Amino acid sequence: MPYLNLEQVAKRFDPLPVALTIADPGQTDLPLIYSNSAFSALTGYAQHEVLNRNCRFLQGDLDNTSARRTVRDALAAAKPAQATFDNLRKDGSSLTTLLYLEPLHDRAGNLVYVVGSQFELHPKVSAAEVDRHSNQFVDGIGDLLALNENLRAVTQRSLARSALATVKLWLET
Ligand SMILES: Cc1cc2nc3c(=O)[nH]c(=O)nc-3n(C[C@H](O)[C@H](O)[C@H](O)COP(=O)(O)O)c2cc1C
Repeated sequence: MPYLNLEQVAKRFDPLPVALTIADPGQTDLPLIYSNSAFSALTGYAQHEVLNRNCRFLQGDLDNTSARRTVRDALAAAKPAQATFDNLRKDGSSLTTLLYLEPLHDRAGNLVYVVGSQFELHPKVSAAEVDRHSNQFVDGIGDLLALNENLRAVTQRSLARSALATVKLWLET
């Protein structure tokens, strides 16, 4: 450690059109150590307001029991996850997202980061939008791995399929 130079991360990810966050599993309660401008645009929170906090604060008092369990189980097994969350923006308005999470390991297999991306869901969300976001997330993970050759991820292009299935389920409920 440190595996990632956060200045390099910012240079690469601040201009991205998709929300991106990185949490540190080595610290108590999985705090965010990075968030990009698209995340601020989506949630209304400036970076300094979210760093060092667990991202669950976006849930307020909303019930996300099932999504939280999905995420907790995946993280305990150090596996990727996707789940839909009901969140609140800083101005109090509702924000529903499909959260993508990807654990990053070092060469020895230790979990060293969890990368997240928040995709806003709305009743007219299209398969093409989900596909585009999934691919941008996979590209972002690829860029992170390129910043440090000791990092490993498991996500593949096929994650677009499972993201689409999760969104379809959300649209039906
Ligand atoms: C990188 C990262 C980004 C996250 N982003 C969000 C988010 O945007 N909204 C949200 O409700 N939860 C988010 N989470 C999930 C929560 O931080 C937490 O893991 C989840 O609520 C399950 O744990 P809990 O039951 O202890 O709250 C994120 C987690 C990580 C690791």
